[in-house]
Amino acid sequence: MTVHFIGAGPGAPDLLTLRGRDLIAASPVCLYAGSLIPEAVLAHCPPGARLVNTAALSLDDIIAECAQAHAQGLDVARLHSGDLSVWSAMGEQLRRLRALDIPYTVTPGVPAFAAAAASLGAELTLPGIAQSVVLTRTPGRASAMPEGERLTQFAQTGATLAIHLSIHKLAEIAAELAPIYGHTCPVAVVWRASWPDQRIVRATLATIAAAVDTRIERTALILVGRALAAEGFDDSRLYAPDYVRRFRPRSATAADHAGQPED
Ligand SMILES: C[S@@+](CC[C@H](N)C(=O)[O-])C[C@H]1O[C@@H](n2cnc3c(N)ncnc32)[C@H](O)[C@@H]1O
Repeated sequence: MTVHFIGAGPGAPDLLTLRGRDLIAASPVCLYAGSLIPEAVLAHCPPGARLVNTAALSLDDIIAECAQAHAQGLDVARLHSGDLSVWSAMGEQLRRLRALDIPYTVTPGVPAFAAAAASLGAELTLPGIAQSVVLTRTPGRASAMPEGERLTQFAQTGATLAIHLSIHKLAEIAAELAPIYGHTCPVAVVWRASWPDQRIVRATLATIAAAVDTRIERTALILVGRALAAEGFDDSRLYAPDYVRRFRPRSATAADHAGQPED
């Protein structure tokens, strides 16, 4: 018996990995975070599976469900939205399972920031503009931010920011970042990325708060950075004709570029 933690993706049911789908289909018990896992993902569960929405459960309750399935020799599919490596509460569940000697596996999923970038048609790391993406949030009721992880500190780097769990603080965030990134810095808010009713609002740090209406709440990502609207960036060296790589032999035009490092 194994508890399979599965990243169920950002919402579109076909943004689930094949491995995730197959594990769900093979598990007679499914624990899922109800607010963000679409019904279509649960449709992969085998007939007669025990489906448990964990939205209203405590950690103790969730672990009790796993322990009960373990005693019965039943595999469990444990679904969380997006990927499991960020804001999934997987860490505390794994720690309890280790203490109980209950085996588990972890299958990654498509994170919300990647789905939002895809919806925008945006590369978040453009040459000469931004080469880092900061996945962050602002403090919440249940989660303080560690000292040193303030938005303004991340902003000093100029990296593209992907700000989660914070749409209710949009005006505050824009006001805080504008003096650092500049008032004209592009911002995009993507609500329910990949869902059929997805909405996108593009604006600047000066105009975003007024551009987003109150119907956009909860499941929204705020992306901030010059990479979101840049056109005047350099091509990457990766596809330059004179750039010698392991899988592309040196071209005639590159003959005089001996000594280029290989990719
Ligand atoms: C508890 S976190 C879960 C993050 C998730 N583990 C991931 O990999 O993206 C929930 C936050 O992720 C963001 N989020 C999750 N799904 C989203 C989606 N489909 N579109 C936009 N933002 C989303 C929102 O900022 C939301 O407040």
